[in-house]
Amino acid sequence: MRRVKVPLGERSYEILVGTGLIDSVSRLVPEGGYSAIVLIADESVDELYGKRLRASLSALGDVHLLTIPSSETAKSWQVAGQLLERMAELKVRRNDLLVSFGGGVASDLGGFLASVYQRGIAVAHVSTTLLGQVDAAIGGKTGVNLPAGKNLVGTFYQPTVVLADVDTLVSLPARQFRSGMAEVVKYGLCYEPWILKTIAERMDRIEACDRDVLEDLVAACAGIKARVVSVDESDRSGRIMLNYGHTFGHALEVAGGYEGWLHGEAISVGMMFAANLALEMGLLEPEEVEEHRAAFEQVGLPVRARFDPAQVAGAWAMDKKFLGAQRWVLLEGLQNPVVRSDVTSTHIDAAVDKVLAP
Ligand code: GLY
Repeated sequence: MRRVKVPLGERSYEILVGTGLIDSVSRLVPEGGYSAIVLIADESVDELYGKRLRASLSALGDVHLLTIPSSETAKSWQVAGQLLERMAELKVRRNDLLVSFGGGVASDLGGFLASVYQRGIAVAHVSTTLLGQVDAAIGGKTGVNLPAGKNLVGTFYQPTVVLADVDTLVSLPARQFRSGMAEVVKYGLCYEPWILKTIAERMDRIEACDRDVLEDLVAACAGIKARVVSVDESDRSGRIMLNYGHTFGHALEVAGGYEGWLHGEAISVGMMFAANLALEMGLLEPEEVEEHRAAFEQVGLPVRARFDPAQVAGAWAMDKKFLGAQRWVLLEGLQNPVVRSDVTSTHIDAAVDKVLAP
């Protein structure tokens, strides 16, 4: 098992990456004298692994299972309210523990509930998707969606531990697995060339869910995210770099309907867009854009999208309304992310041309 520390002073915690972790949760969650555990579980994940997790958790206290739908629709204000009311009915106390079980939806929603229930109870994330293990469960971002946009309500609230059991990735649908690989490629492009090399040389073993390779890869990504979060916990400077490809990617997700495009599929096209933007601005060389393409194609992710540019621009304008002045995360050479605000509409149009086809 790998231990990756997230150093945040008194809010420091570990990300534990390994196999068979869901059977050892009671031993791996830091001691807290809990008398009850609220388990917020993705219903599909619970069907597969819930019995094993609950058997282990019961050593810590009474387990109250609250299942949530296996989709982004679970992150609604209404579902959050219902779950908080259930927690109050169950008489969950301030010194009890909430455990989220599933992917990014479970950790975003579970983290949010833990952060607001009785002004904050401890939370541990047991992450079962690649996207969750390398990104969503790490760093304390929580979120609930509003009709006006994704994650418009949320808090920064760090867990006491993140458990990334790579065994659970075996049951992940192939499309979800590939979607998670988009974030892995992102870490390779923005921070660590070893990740791109591993994808280029060992994709067959990654796809076959070879435990050793997955442990190495997940731990490497978790380590990068831990470093970034430890210097900018509240997303004011360096953490924004983790959004490489996300501005354009979010617009695709909105334009395609959240169910039409998985996050990783959208941000892979988003990163291709950002790479072409950087090429237009003289920040990247053509071979570096090709490295983007090669990595996404190797993983089986899209590098272009069939969309009417006007439709994407509409979704984008909404995003800009919320974000204010646009700040673009671009690469000035591979593994060198920078933030630029001097992107012109000519640059944008040229880059859109490269990644969108009506
Ligand atoms: N997923 C981006 C972040 O945690 O900041």
